Amino acid sequence: METDRVIPQHVAIIMDGNGRWAKAKGLPRNMGHAQGARVVERILEDADHMGIRYLTVYAFSTENWSRPDPEVKALMNLLRTYMKTSLAKCAKNNVCIRVIGDKSRLDEDLQRAIAGLEEATKENTGIHFQIAINYGGRDEIVRGVRALGERIAAGELRPEEITEQMIAASIDTAGLPDPDLLIRTCGEERISNFLLWQGAYTELYFTQAAWPDFTKEELERAIDAYNRRERRYGGLKG
Ligand code: FPP
Repeated sequence: METDRVIPQHVAIIMDGNGRWAKAKGLPRNMGHAQGARVVERILEDADHMGIRYLTVYAFSTENWSRPDPEVKALMNLLRTYMKTSLAKCAKNNVCIRVIGDKSRLDEDLQRAIAGLEEATKENTGIHFQIAINYGGRDEIVRGVRALGERIAAGELRPEEITEQMIAASIDTAGLPDPDLLIRTCGEERISNFLLWQGAYTELYFTQAAWPDFTKEELERAIDAYNRRERRYGGLKG
C-alpha cells in the first residue's frame, strides 16, 4: 500500500562495485569512480524528493589508502571537484553537508574546501548529506573515546559518568539520528567498518547492482523492502 509506506528518516549507503562495473565494460577503474560520483549527485536529489531527511555515503574508508597511489589520487580529486562544484547546487537545493571521518590526513586544500562547504551550508534546512572520507567506524570510536579520556584526565569527568549518549555525542555523527536503513551495492553482505556504533538497530539491504548502475528505482526497492520488515527493538515492535 503505497500511501502507508514509511520513508526512512536516515539512509546510509556503502557504494560498492565501481571497479567491477568499469572492468565489465573494459574501462579503467577510475571511470567507475567517476560514474559513481555522478550517481551520488542524482541519488542525493532523488532521496531529497522522496522525503529522506539524512543521507550518508561511504566515499573513502581508512583502509582505502592501501589502494594503488593513482587510484587514491583519482578518488581524492573526485572528492575535491565535488566539494568545489557542489556549493552552488547545495545553496539552490538547501542541502546541509557534513564530512565524517578523520579529516586531518586529507590534503590541506581539501580540508579547507570541506570546512568552507560545511560552514556555508550549516543553516540549510533541506536534506542532510554526510560524506564519509577517511572514515572507519573503529577509528571514529577510538577518536571519540580519546576525547572523553582527555576530559577524564583534566578532571572534568569521572569514568562512571560516561553514558551511551556521551559516546554518541563524541563521535563524528554527533547530533544526527542513527540510520534506519543501510544499503550496500554489488553483492557483498558486510558492514566493512561503516557506522558501527550508529548501526546497532539499522535494517540492512543488499543489492546486486553495482553503484554506478544504482538508480532511483533501486532506492525505491530498498525502501519497499524496509517497509516489509517487522521493526523490532529488543522485543517490542517499533
Ligand atoms: C567502491 O568501489 C567505491 C569506493 C571505494 C569509492 C566510492 C566513491 C565514489 C562513488 C565517488 C566519489 C564520491 C562522492 C561523494 C562524490 P570499489 O572500487 O571497491 O569497487 P570494486 O569492489 O568493484 O573493486
